[in-house]
Amino acid sequence: MCLETETLSANDAGIDRAAQLLRASKLVAFPTETVYGLGGSARSDSAVAGIYAAKGRPSFNPLIAHVACLDMAEDFAEISNDVRSLAAIFWPGPLTLVLPLRAGSGISQLVTAGLGTVAVRVPAHPVARRLLRQVDGPVAAPSANISGKISPTTAGHVLNGLSGKISAVLDGGPCAVGVESTILSLDPPRLLRPGGISTEALQTALGRSLPTGGDAAAPNAPGQLLSHYAPGAPVRLNATEAQPNELWIGFGPGCPGQLTLSASGDLLEAAANLFATLHSADALTSPPNGPTRIAVAPIPERGLGRAINDRLRRAAAPRD
Ligand code: TXA
Ligand code: MG
Repeated sequence: MCLETETLSANDAGIDRAAQLLRASKLVAFPTETVYGLGGSARSDSAVAGIYAAKGRPSFNPLIAHVACLDMAEDFAEISNDVRSLAAIFWPGPLTLVLPLRAGSGISQLVTAGLGTVAVRVPAHPVARRLLRQVDGPVAAPSANISGKISPTTAGHVLNGLSGKISAVLDGGPCAVGVESTILSLDPPRLLRPGGISTEALQTALGRSLPTGGDAAAPNAPGQLLSHYAPGAPVRLNATEAQPNELWIGFGPGCPGQLTLSASGDLLEAAANLFATLHSADALTSPPNGPTRIAVAPIPERGLGRAINDRLRRAAAPRD
């Protein structure tokens, strides 16, 4: 994939153009007060799969959905009174809240990695706020760097890693905070990632101390959450044909399957379909008379195939 990456100025014309691209499911890096985000429409499976492809992420960690205000989050997340109180104090700002997903939210399952929660953030950067207001829908955005590299705090950093891989970067100058947002999950409150809002400030607002021990403090803890979602039926990988009691998930013309991640063998399409297909397979293997096991066709271990295989291996891992 090689695109001519546009550098857009943070004026009316540049922000208009960036919003237009995002609404068309293209990828646009934009400034926030913490770091530059690699944005794509959170409602578009193909845009979110494109984020993973551009970053070269080897696994599907869930992403943060960015919105301009609390009202916009209400379209897709359950907002409790506690959340309202926290938002009144810390939003806009570098605090990300992990909230229950609303039924029928329309958020891509690649954003939530198939979890029942969604991480929501209202950035304080004036350019981000104007952009998000114009897009008028949630924008998924991890930091705008190649996976494993340092998070970018200037448009130049973004272009060093992602030039030719994304449609545009909106240049809002250097980011003020430079470390990512603090991530808090609720009921009960737990600090998942320290960041731009201090633990002390959160504890004061919550009126209680925040557990940070155990796996909650580990930076890879959200990744480990992925093992919580696996289909109920046992999963067999690299299946080039189905056994009689198996539901076969195919990939490519040589492995058609009853369901398929991509009939043409396209990895971007397969990534976009992954979580929805696993959910369908789960539903189809629950009735008493249907297939009782799931078989999945081989997925090439390159590009997005690595992240797909990582997720499939978790789904197929032995369970307690
Ligand atoms: O400051 C920031 O937060 C930046 C800017 C661009 O907004 N974004 C950012 O995104 O750091 P990212 O993708 O690098 O980090 C998102 C973190 C990941 O560690 C992910 O596992 C966690 O949020 N996360 C997302 N959804 C989650 C969920 N439903 N439950 C638990 N953790 C979640
Ligand atoms: Mg990051």
